[in-house]
Amino acid sequence: MDLKHLQRNWDHLGRTDPLWAVLTWPGKRGKRWDPQEFFAVGAAEIESLIRCIESLPVGIQKGKALDFGCGVGRLTQPLAEHFQEVWGVDIAPSMIELAGKYNRYGDRCKYRVNDSDDLGLFADDTFDFVHSHLTLQHLHPQLANGYIKEFIRVLAPGGLLVFQMAGEPTVRRRGPVRTLRRCVRRLIPEGVIRLCRRIRYGHLIDMYGIPREEMVAFLVGSGARVLDVQADTSAGGGWMSYRYWATKE
Ligand SMILES: C[S@@+](CC[C@H](N)C(=O)[O-])C[C@H]1O[C@@H](n2cnc3c(N)ncnc32)[C@H](O)[C@@H]1O
Repeated sequence: MDLKHLQRNWDHLGRTDPLWAVLTWPGKRGKRWDPQEFFAVGAAEIESLIRCIESLPVGIQKGKALDFGCGVGRLTQPLAEHFQEVWGVDIAPSMIELAGKYNRYGDRCKYRVNDSDDLGLFADDTFDFVHSHLTLQHLHPQLANGYIKEFIRVLAPGGLLVFQMAGEPTVRRRGPVRTLRRCVRRLIPEGVIRLCRRIRYGHLIDMYGIPREEMVAFLVGSGARVLDVQADTSAGGGWMSYRYWATKE
């Protein structure tokens, strides 16, 4: 899916049911999220992340942080409790507009639309902390890898990169069934597949995974030093999910 298409989809979700598009919890669809409860979930996630960061053997600077795919700022806002300046970047103008409305930190928290496949908005070595959650898993691996390279470029030496990405599907079809599915899949036009997904899931959020070993090799090959990889459940049923911790020398 090209970036324009991706932007249209997320912008539509941002206009129609933004909090549910970010956290698709059962019972919350149709604008049923209470914003206070929604942001409290984000605050708890960041508190636990900060506790992990503080337990690292090396300290990090608490200057500038980047939250890539920030949505309405669910995680960007609590990051502003811990960093002097936080940038939230998202492809959807509607999400960024709403993030601005929920912003409680004034100029210390800046939100920007980025509809490019790079982070040309930022110079090399800008951020002490680069973070992304529940975003890369919705991007084609080629696009996701391009952004990850950019995360490493904009990360300051000695800074910390933490991001979540889906890994391997948990249900692997093998043998002839898998081959048959692949052949049929190739024969169906992309537009029809998207329509089927829309009918089945009611929205247009794609899911992709990159196997853990492949991701680690990619990080190392792109100049990062991997500190840790933690399995988590963020990607929901059907996918392994990992949180990658890395730095740049
Ligand atoms: C599931 S939401 C997660 C939002 C936020 N990270 C959180 O956990 O609250 C995914 C977000 O990624 C954004 N997104 C999707 N593709 C993107 C891209 N190529 N660049 C920047 N943001 C993107 C979407 O607009 C959406 O706001």
